[in-house]
Amino acid sequence: MTIPLQLDPHALAAELSNKNLIGGELVPASSGKTFDVINPATMETIATTPFSDATDVDRAVQNAKTAQKAWAKMNARDRGKLVAACGTALMERVEEMGRLIALETGKAIRTESRPEASVLADVFIYFGGLASELKGESIPFNNETLTVTVRQPIGVIGAIIPWNAPLLLMALKIAPALVAGNSVVVKSAEEAPLGVLRVAQVMNEILPPGVFNILSGFGPEAGAPLVEHKSVGKVSFTGSVDTGRIVYKTAAERIVPCTLELGGKSPMIVMADADLDRAVAGALTSMRFTRQGQSCTAASRIFVHEDLHDAFVEKMVAAVNAMKMGDPMDEETDIGSVISPQQFQTVQKYIGIGKDTAGATAHVCSALPTDARFSKGLFVQPVIFTGTRNTDQINQEEIFGPVTCVIPWRDYEDVIAQANDTQFGLAASVWTNNLKLAMDAVHRIEAGFCQVNQNVVVQAGLSYGGVKTSGLGKEASLESMLEHFTQKKTIIINMT
Ligand code: NAI
Ligand code: MG
Repeated sequence: MTIPLQLDPHALAAELSNKNLIGGELVPASSGKTFDVINPATMETIATTPFSDATDVDRAVQNAKTAQKAWAKMNARDRGKLVAACGTALMERVEEMGRLIALETGKAIRTESRPEASVLADVFIYFGGLASELKGESIPFNNETLTVTVRQPIGVIGAIIPWNAPLLLMALKIAPALVAGNSVVVKSAEEAPLGVLRVAQVMNEILPPGVFNILSGFGPEAGAPLVEHKSVGKVSFTGSVDTGRIVYKTAAERIVPCTLELGGKSPMIVMADADLDRAVAGALTSMRFTRQGQSCTAASRIFVHEDLHDAFVEKMVAAVNAMKMGDPMDEETDIGSVISPQQFQTVQKYIGIGKDTAGATAHVCSALPTDARFSKGLFVQPVIFTGTRNTDQINQEEIFGPVTCVIPWRDYEDVIAQANDTQFGLAASVWTNNLKLAMDAVHRIEAGFCQVNQNVVVQAGLSYGGVKTSGLGKEASLESMLEHFTQKKTIIINMT
């Protein structure tokens, strides 16, 4: 380990202040401009970070372009070994990374930040092992020719990432991109630039300089020039539908491929025969109250059969009440703070909309921290609404906060129709012991990731990605690497 471990997250944040990683060097923005990184649990400034612009983006892309040539020439398995070695190096830093992202995102160390740091390492190890699967085909064209396809890297990948699970969501893009022989330029989320920079710094000790570049900055000033850059051959974006639309338009102008992982309003359907305790536990996992509901797959519409509805709500409210909100660094804490004042206001706005909905009851759960250190922190009590309808605004728009609605249903055909009556199609779950019903439901629900009797989150090896406005393309799997980070070439060798 060439970079010493730094387990004090405040010291590490200070150390990582005002740096991009471009061409293997830690550098400030060329303009020298910066902005503050805050700890949302206290609202204290913990670091500054470069306010990058088109000049920095150009510098990063030029470095990536140069580095990519040698990287693509390397044997695929040798590239895979280096990427897997990054995973091993990151595995030794789970505690360091966990503490750092707990500090910059407000996500609790035990329930969210440390687990994310360990999944991060696993993603690099998984993709590193897939390098020899970058295969083409041979085609029976005629007996006089050898006709084959080969998979080649695209070149420079521009990746734009969000703040809710910054390490994991970045890894799902850069691990397959690098193994496939591309170089990458990442634009980090303005709210969470430090953890991902530490990942880049650690990986830079293993990878050739310029293969992985990262810069911090805002969407219009740094994100847009990356998508527009003429040497970026593909764009991979995770974030909101509105920004995804802007990114996709620019990619369309340039005619470059674009992967979009956008929002969700994921339904959970609990059938009359479901195991109630198991379904309630699944609702908590999927709603990600431990991440303040800031998850694109959050089960924010929970359709419960009318026979179980009241008991379900009672048990769910009790379970969320038992969760402890407070210091993200405390091992006892289940729920930390939301990410930013802007997100805090959005969530409060939707809680207001929910409360104003005709017939709605708000079950406000857990308790705000009382410690004076957190008096300015962005803490939000989880809210479970009952008495709303699927067509209400609260059930049609993504909130990205600890707010969910439990909706009773009676007729099976009707609940399937309601589950699909949404612009989104990211994830879904069905809860029943009736296999026939489960199979029917998962085939009919319009979503990219459907589960029965469980609500696990993104797993390496399982294709993940939405339909409808939830996005385009898949991540996390072998097929995602082949389809989204390589391009096929047909080669015909005439032997006559
Ligand atoms: P956003 O979509 O604006 O930001 C995501 C990333 O896109 C950030 O890195 C941002 O700097 C970048 N970006 C913004 N404008 C850009 C532009 N014109 N060109 C290129 N890049 C640009 O999301 P934001 O503002 O952080 O959150 C707003 C809402 O988006 C949330 O309330 C939530 O509903 C949704 N969201 C969904 C996520 C998901 O995982 N699907 C993640 C984060 C937010
Ligand atoms: Mg935005």
